[in-house]
Amino acid sequence: MLYVPLLCMNKKIVVSGIRSTGDLHLGNYFGAIQNYLTMQEDYQCYFFIADYHSLTTHPDASLLRPNVYKVLAEYLACGLDPNKVVLFAQSDMVQIPELYLLLNTLSYVGELEKVPTFKEKVRSNPDNVNAALLTYPVLMAADILIHRADFVPVGKDQEQHLEMARNFAGRFNNRYGCNLFPEPQVFRSRQDTIKIMSLDGEGKMSKSENINATIYLNDTDEVIRKKIMKAKTDQGPTEPNTPMPDYIQNLFTLLKASGSEAYSHFLDHYNGCTIRYGDMKKQLTEDLIRFINPIRTQADEIRNNAPLMQKVLREGAEKAMPSANQTIKEARRAMGINYYS
Ligand code: TYM
Repeated sequence: MLYVPLLCMNKKIVVSGIRSTGDLHLGNYFGAIQNYLTMQEDYQCYFFIADYHSLTTHPDASLLRPNVYKVLAEYLACGLDPNKVVLFAQSDMVQIPELYLLLNTLSYVGELEKVPTFKEKVRSNPDNVNAALLTYPVLMAADILIHRADFVPVGKDQEQHLEMARNFAGRFNNRYGCNLFPEPQVFRSRQDTIKIMSLDGEGKMSKSENINATIYLNDTDEVIRKKIMKAKTDQGPTEPNTPMPDYIQNLFTLLKASGSEAYSHFLDHYNGCTIRYGDMKKQLTEDLIRFINPIRTQADEIRNNAPLMQKVLREGAEKAMPSANQTIKEARRAMGINYYS
């Protein structure tokens, strides 16, 4: 059967989400949200808050609602427009767990056990190796395939999960002799997907780890200043055009991403071995404050407006339903779950 997207007939479909496990940071912004903002103009976008995924780490039940509101408020403060995109909470879509169950029949324990993010969770939290952690990529595939996404804007750390979603889509189509699921591609606005490292040079910026070396969208000006001033640097290059160590490259990435006009100035000084990291950090601090301050102020205001939060979530779920219902209907039919017609 020919699939007709129900909202906007001719637009390619985009799906992406962020887990509600803490405050959003520059990695989330430059890895994901920045692309969401570009895409909201030209694509049929479904952006959601991945609250089911957050349950794998057993958060306190009382934290769920504030954490979901936090992500939603930051989505809106960053500029996502609920009149242009469909914004919803993952747990409002009953079709997602149903597709997750169906896809679980096509995913193998062996392949799931090899996923690096799963192995990392097993290492860091051996007392909580629950089945939902193992099948995390299957739930993510269900999020994406439920709307039959063409593109998925994500940061570099999620690329392997996306490859698995493509595998599940292809496997479903082959197994049931249909063409139900397109194979979703990573959306790249630049040449490569981005990874923002933490400022101490150890790992990536994260909602729950490296918190003193991660810049959050709700950090105050003073906190931003302190964190940037403590960022790892070194003596500077001694030979012209020396390749940059990761932690220096990261500062340049942030400078460029924050729209700083001083990017080429500092790059020239780096290549000419005359760079003064103190000056560069001051500039980066000013640029990040200019960028983050309005988002923080607006998100604070929006988060306290519970009626607005609820309206956006409710209307978003309603708008996402038709496409999800259609997919489930077709998936059930393809699998033979079709007893009444
Ligand atoms: P999450 O919540 O960890 O991150 C949300 C988005 O931010 C990107 N990101 C980064 N990009 C660059 N540098 C970083 N340091 C950095 N940290 C995070 C992530 O790549 C992601 O795009 N499993 C997903 C949530 C999810 C999802 C989905 C995403 C659930 N279902 C379906 C897309 C489609 C996650 O945990 O993202």
